[in-house]
Amino acid sequence: MEVFEIEGGGRLEGRLRVNGSKNASLPLMAAALLTDKPVILRDVPDLADIRNMIRLLTELGCEVEADFEPDPDSGERSVTIRPVDETHSHARYEVVRTMRASVCVLGPLLARRGAARVSMPGGCAIGDRPVDLHLRGLEALGARVCLDSGDISVSIPGFETGGRLRGATVFLGGSFGSTVLGTANVLSAATLAEGITMIESAACEPEIVDLAKLLNSMGAKISGAGSPRLVIEGVESLSGADHRVIPDRIEAATLMGAAAITDGALTLDNCPVDAMLAVTEHLRQIGVEIRVGPHEKDLLRATCRVSRGGDLKPVVATTQPHPGFPTDVQAQLMALVSLADGNSVITEKIFPERFLHVPELARMGARLHRQGATVVVSGVRELTGAPVMASDLRASAGLVLAGMAARGVTTINRVYHLDRGYERLEQRLERVGAKIRRVKAEQTVAA
Ligand code: EPU
Repeated sequence: MEVFEIEGGGRLEGRLRVNGSKNASLPLMAAALLTDKPVILRDVPDLADIRNMIRLLTELGCEVEADFEPDPDSGERSVTIRPVDETHSHARYEVVRTMRASVCVLGPLLARRGAARVSMPGGCAIGDRPVDLHLRGLEALGARVCLDSGDISVSIPGFETGGRLRGATVFLGGSFGSTVLGTANVLSAATLAEGITMIESAACEPEIVDLAKLLNSMGAKISGAGSPRLVIEGVESLSGADHRVIPDRIEAATLMGAAAITDGALTLDNCPVDAMLAVTEHLRQIGVEIRVGPHEKDLLRATCRVSRGGDLKPVVATTQPHPGFPTDVQAQLMALVSLADGNSVITEKIFPERFLHVPELARMGARLHRQGATVVVSGVRELTGAPVMASDLRASAGLVLAGMAARGVTTINRVYHLDRGYERLEQRLERVGAKIRRVKAEQTVAA
């Protein structure tokens, strides 16, 4: 088992490029199942989840060519996906178990192959993760849905004799807002439906906008992406495409947090500032300076300079669907304000149990008081290094930030959680001054 060993206290200084987005790449890759032509995706990050998706697509009859060697000029990598055998439509438990996002093959498989079987994703470390809305949406398009031996089984009645999904009005809202991958599934399926589909209370996340952009370049007719109402005019077939994935707003936010918590200064290239206004606004309130060059033309791929303007100030933050503060940055924010001068209040509205980092941060000296889905963070003057346990991906990122700011050595166990969503994080942070290394568990100072 590998762990990170972090010696805290250093400042980060330098320049990093934000990678392509994991959460955009996964549904984009699944969308390649909607055609038999090649779909080229550029700037896909080299992550455990992406490799899992490649494995899944290969099992589903796709030829996948993944070139993870960065282009010397652009720093980009590419993945080319081409379905060559459309007879397999079963995403097995063994794959879905390792990556919940496998569920996003459901809509594309259904629409193109007439049927799909996807192992029912279980809950995960961040709480129950139902898929009822995905299924309700596909049902509204005319799919037959049933549960069978732990698998979700969906089919289009009469597909063999020319039956198709039918356009419909679909409401995808829940008490928490909308569902990102549920929207991706229904949107993808509706592109090949007969007639017009309207998705109301669709997710507005930038990853959905990116998916709609890819689908449109494959020949789909989607309007309204980025708003809660998507309108999709179904087409008979889709072609291939060449698409550049948006940069990862969660990685960018994590790196901004890293600059701030170490009192450092980082220049971030390829930074999607326009997709992270809630994050940058909260960081500014905390006392972090974020400067974007006045001549930047593309604010989804900008260069920005992140530094700190003095002591950290407390903040009140509530996670919400986009454009609100993202749940995927909640743990990193908590690590940051644990060193603020005063009390912060952080409320989690998307995954009310997503607080696995709370007891671990407390082990490092953070003063946290949790009541239900809210944590009051009373800022302390310093954190101290400790052995801590990574749990989910973003909780682990919060611990890395805390470790870099803490006095002494922090060892973070189970870093495979981080590898699911951050590419070689320790090497990139080391390049800008962090004292962080990946070691086998038995080699650690604290072991
Ligand atoms: N929900 C339902 N029913 C459904 C679907 C969702 O009740 O059918 C609920 C969930 O339980 C949750 C809320 O809706 O309370 C939002 O969940 P959503 O479906 O939007 O989450 P997701 O699409 O499964 C994606 C990201 C997550 C991110 C969430 C919220 C990917 C691969 N995953 O998940 O990312 O936290 O949206 O923004 O895109 C991560 O990257 O660490 C991560 C967990």
